[in-house]
Amino acid sequence: MCRFFILIIIGLSVFSNGFTQSIPAIIPTPISTIQKEGHFELNNETILYYDSASINSKNFLHSFLLQHYKIKLKARSYNGDLKIINNSNNTIVLHKQVAENETYMLNVEQNKIIIEGSESGVFYGMQSLIQLLPTEISNKKIPCLTIFDAPRFGYRGLHLDVARHFFPVSFIKKYIDFLALHKLNTFHWHLTDDQGWRIEIKKYPLLTKIGSIRSQTLIGPYGSNKYDGRKYSGYYTQSEIKEVIDYASKRYINIIPEIEMPGHSLSALASYPFLGCTKGPYKVMETWGVADDALCAGNDSTYQFYENVLDEIISLFPSKTIHIGGDECAKTKWKECKVCQKKMKEQNLKDEHELQGYFIGEIEKHINKKGKKIIGWDEIMEGGLAPNAAVMSWRGEEGGISAAKQQHEVVMTPGTPLYFDHTQSINEDSVTQGGLNTLKAVYNYNPIPEALMPHETPYILGAQANMWTEYMDNEKKVEYMLFPRIAALSEALWTKLDNKNYNKFEAKISTVFARYDLWKINYSKAYFDVESHVINNDSGKIFWHLISKNKLGKIYCTAPNQSEKQINEAFPISQSGEYKAILKDEKNYPLSSEISQTFFINKATGKPISISVQPNKSYAANGSKTLVDGIQNKMGMPKSAQFLGFWGDDVEVIIDLQKEMNVDSILLHSFEQKASWIYRPKEVTFLLSIDGINYTQIVENPQISGNSNLIYSQKLSSKARFIKIFIKNIGLIPENNPGSGNNAWIFIDEIEIK
Ligand code: ACM
Ligand code: ZN
Repeated sequence: MCRFFILIIIGLSVFSNGFTQSIPAIIPTPISTIQKEGHFELNNETILYYDSASINSKNFLHSFLLQHYKIKLKARSYNGDLKIINNSNNTIVLHKQVAENETYMLNVEQNKIIIEGSESGVFYGMQSLIQLLPTEISNKKIPCLTIFDAPRFGYRGLHLDVARHFFPVSFIKKYIDFLALHKLNTFHWHLTDDQGWRIEIKKYPLLTKIGSIRSQTLIGPYGSNKYDGRKYSGYYTQSEIKEVIDYASKRYINIIPEIEMPGHSLSALASYPFLGCTKGPYKVMETWGVADDALCAGNDSTYQFYENVLDEIISLFPSKTIHIGGDECAKTKWKECKVCQKKMKEQNLKDEHELQGYFIGEIEKHINKKGKKIIGWDEIMEGGLAPNAAVMSWRGEEGGISAAKQQHEVVMTPGTPLYFDHTQSINEDSVTQGGLNTLKAVYNYNPIPEALMPHETPYILGAQANMWTEYMDNEKKVEYMLFPRIAALSEALWTKLDNKNYNKFEAKISTVFARYDLWKINYSKAYFDVESHVINNDSGKIFWHLISKNKLGKIYCTAPNQSEKQINEAFPISQSGEYKAILKDEKNYPLSSEISQTFFINKATGKPISISVQPNKSYAANGSKTLVDGIQNKMGMPKSAQFLGFWGDDVEVIIDLQKEMNVDSILLHSFEQKASWIYRPKEVTFLLSIDGINYTQIVENPQISGNSNLIYSQKLSSKARFIKIFIKNIGLIPENNPGSGNNAWIFIDEIEIK
């Protein structure tokens, strides 16, 4: 290690010469990059020297250059003594050093490139070298520079759910390469869920014979009842699993397998109904969400079965950590099950949450006995955290904060912003799950919460993004949801906080996209979308503000029944109807897809509004003004940009119409989706006032229409200047529902006064 750091210091002092050049588009940004004059030119005569510890790096580089640049390096092994190749020209040297794990130095000179570091460090240095290559394959010049680099976090993860949709080994390998190209080191393979069991277990063949098959799949939004009517199946044999593990290990990627229990287990229950409380019959699930059925936690044979399954998992996967799920386990059946209730009595457990804690604890004991440790979703904290368990915090960061304070290891993976099944564009036209997680939000994510004391932060091992595939039935869609957010993720996990800078990241995006084109990746171009937001300056007028990061074009806007106009500033919205916008070049050629927005103008639109509590930061949209911005959520799924979400809170809203007016009706838009813990308000009350001091309660619990998009409305014949709306949350989610016992969300959107 010492020699390595001496090298670095010398490097810094020799090359810090103020030489200016555009910063190479290396993602994630290294600790230090010192640019120098000149370049190294790669050709078919370039010799790639590698020592015995660098074979994996040699193989990756060799096949990458062949595949993407049609260059065939002459690879030669050497004994690790740098002196032997000191005088060689046109060489790339991969050299394992005594260095801290994952650390590397990359030195590009005109006649030689040397990558030194720990074994995995050399691999990461080689990844940086790949990103120094130009994106036009005819140009093979690599700029001279010196990079020293090491990661911020030891756990840099990406997950893939192969239960909702199955992906073949060829794609899993490609996915693992995506991780490697971004210096991620952990692949969380979500192998079982209600919708399918995807790994061969020799002792229990029905898990795949029955559990890997479902009759059909939900293709519309949750609750839409829109199914494809097609049988769906797929699983990995154990020999395929071994092949993937070997592939990943050559890329310094650990695979954490996840076997879900005791909830999210319908595929196992359908295969072996004795595992359940009611004994079935059960069906592999066709929709996503939370099922009422779980494994019977009272029956000893359930534990025996899962221990046998885990024994096969443990002997397959070298990972020190095994993921045992633990999330969203409905307690419905446990409450009615005599065996579960008996177990609770025997073990002195006060409720079903403690039974869940007992279940996880028993499984942990077995896994610990085999020399491994468990990680689980943050619900494993229910009824007390198992002694050695690590926690994956997905329902925000609270679970992770609490676990770190209890001195347990934590991987942060909060739904906002790290769920990649959520859309990255407010203009998304494919069906997606959840809210909006933009490239910028992912980039700005910091896995270390402010709530932790310095001595608690080492328990945060790192973070990962989760790719739930509810609506990803093909590889191209997975790529589209992953790219370019994986680039932002890699900086959030690798790059030191001082070096993180979104503007600098943005400056690299064009190069990054060109690289994706070279790699033939299907990526989202949402970054260049025409972005719109409503300006509401409390004057009673609203404006549609449109911008694009693509400066090559101009934005054109079309108002209802009018012709297209080029706009430079915000576009005034004076009437209800559909407005359209598009980016075009000077020849009128479209540079973006067209976006459209329907506005509903009423007496409340653009008026001053105040709110008693701020929305939760995950669903804060544009603050209280969102409720009077003329935009109504029209989709079955909430576009989070248009909703305010309150987690457990009651809310009071006051709108000032700025003068006394006739009020003929009041409407409040809300949303309900119990699978996502979003509940209709318990009470809605409308109040009116002339002076803003004395309010008359005019309506309690107005009429409700709609299904999941709810409208609370009341016809009136009154005069008022101020309208107050009181919205009461139901509080805790009732028993026998997904998330029972947690705070319920209320989602509110537009308020209309007519
Ligand atoms: C989860 O998203 N249910 C872990
Ligand atoms: Zn039971």
